[in-house]
Amino acid sequence: VRTLLIIGIGAGDPGQVTAQAAAALNQVDVFFVIDKGQVTRELVDLRTEICDRYIAGSGYRIVEIPDVQRDRTGPEYRRAVSDWHAERAARCAETIAGELADGGTGGFLVWGDPAIYDSTIRIVENICGRSGLDCDYRVIPGISSVQQLAAAHRIVLNGIGEPIVITTGRRLQQSIADGAQNIVVMLDADLACRSLLGSAIGWQIFWGAYLGTADETLVAGPLADVIDEIGRVRSALRERKGWIMDTYLLRRINSQPG
Ligand SMILES: C[S@@+](CC[C@H](N)C(=O)[O-])C[C@H]1O[C@@H](n2cnc3c(N)ncnc32)[C@H](O)[C@@H]1O
Repeated sequence: VRTLLIIGIGAGDPGQVTAQAAAALNQVDVFFVIDKGQVTRELVDLRTEICDRYIAGSGYRIVEIPDVQRDRTGPEYRRAVSDWHAERAARCAETIAGELADGGTGGFLVWGDPAIYDSTIRIVENICGRSGLDCDYRVIPGISSVQQLAAAHRIVLNGIGEPIVITTGRRLQQSIADGAQNIVVMLDADLACRSLLGSAIGWQIFWGAYLGTADETLVAGPLADVIDEIGRVRSALRERKGWIMDTYLLRRINSQPG
């Protein structure tokens, strides 16, 4: 039996690697990297730094699995994503069968926590469900960018007794229509919260970019007052670094913090 470990490595600060994740890193014979193409040099370096810092010795290998292009054009978004996952899983299974001996341990490193907007668990579940590859998997949780956002702003994500919704920029309007009060927005290419300006409901925003890294940048305040500043800061950072990774919490102004 091959064992696959899906290891959450935190949002960007190597200090966020938990003791449990460090122990798991040391069990891995082969790390499988799904090359997402757009992964920046900086993130690859960070991953290397984590391995160098936490793994005793150098008895591991790194094997890249080239990514499968995803069809973002079709109307059936879910179907396109699930076809893409299936194809990615087939390619991973092939590579794992060839690179990891029976009885060996493979590892997948995941930014933040593997349970939040990451497809690695689904891919590995799919791989392990395939005939011919005898494998099992475990998940080691990590500190998510959502937790780092809250910690950096020194806030509780929910108002007293209120629910928290975690969604994407693309689905933000739906959560607003559903009456959500505390909304964490991830995977937002273009500040979808701008669309809330001018509505009758007031919102507070807690925004963070490159959370957990040396470039961590925070802006907070009433949405209408700070959205232009966030837009300016975000564009300048993206220009300087060539990429941006940001997350924010929106809270209805009449909600009770705590
Ligand atoms: C594919 S999701 C991965 C989330 C990850 N599993 C987590 O737990 O944080 C990528 C999105 O997470 C958010 N994100 C991840 N790392 C971040 C960071 N260091 N700073 C700000 N946002 C981050 C951004 O919204 C980004 O678009």
